[in-house]
Amino acid sequence: MSPQNKIIVWEFSFYYDSHQALKMVNLSIRANEIFAIFGPARSGKTTLLKSLNRLTDLVYGSSHTGTILLDGDDIYDPKQSLTQLRRRVGIVFDLPIPLPMSIYDNVVYGPRLRGTTQKGLLDETVEKSLRSAVLWEEVKDRLQTSALRLSGGQQQRLCIARILALEPEVLLLDEPCSGLDPISTTSIEETLTRLKKEYTIILVPHNIQQASRVADRCGFFLNSELIEEGPTYQLFTSPKDQRTEDYITGRFG
Ligand SMILES: Nc1ncnc2c1ncn2[C@@H]1O[C@H](COP(=O)(O)OP(=O)(O)OP(=O)(O)O)[C@@H](O)[C@H]1O
Ligand SMILES: [Mg+2]
Repeated sequence: MSPQNKIIVWEFSFYYDSHQALKMVNLSIRANEIFAIFGPARSGKTTLLKSLNRLTDLVYGSSHTGTILLDGDDIYDPKQSLTQLRRRVGIVFDLPIPLPMSIYDNVVYGPRLRGTTQKGLLDETVEKSLRSAVLWEEVKDRLQTSALRLSGGQQQRLCIARILALEPEVLLLDEPCSGLDPISTTSIEETLTRLKKEYTIILVPHNIQQASRVADRCGFFLNSELIEEGPTYQLFTSPKDQRTEDYITGRFG
């Protein structure tokens, strides 16, 4: 294993009952990169993201074969703590839904559940997380107002800040810009580019243009299979597989 590999997915297959949603996926994700997973609807992108922090465990009748390693440790090993895994690998979904409470309370919700009560520590977490999510300057004077009064883009960054407050190592983002206007989309993309200095980011982009703007490397999924992966520039300019080329040139999907 190369020391810079944060996550290794090895011969990983996933089934919802008899439906195979991932077929023998092999993939390495490096520390401090943005890796984009793109492909047509139902190709298995969300299933892969959810498998990476075992959210798929919740699906009745699902099963998998193969291995996923996080820093060399098998995340499906029964000895692994699920709570610890979910803390290390945070996930943000497409529809940002802050809790119906203040901006401040949203950010410290997770840390409070974990038992942090000291106001000084919570204040510090709020500022640090909101700064990292590039939201601090916009909300620092109204932390006690309802999070539901923020714009869609701000709510999405708040949801990212909530995850950051738990100090994860890996961030999984499933179409974080769907439904956002171009200005909010740009601020989320800038946020991700800053965050990769500290975190490993796996992103299902809103579209392939977003992948080409922010990702260091990309993987193209089709019909439950990883067809091709590589550095973003190479994948978009000289794909190796005809199916990748057909997809990025808009011949299907
Ligand atoms: N909870 C579930 N139970 C049964 N089948 C599911 C479940 N979730 C997803 N699937 C099926 O697994 C396949 C892959 O779905 P997945 O959501 O991973 O695709 P996706 O690439 O994220 O698609 P989209 O671009 O539409 O978000 C689809 O055929 C889907 O219908
Ligand atoms: Mg999806």
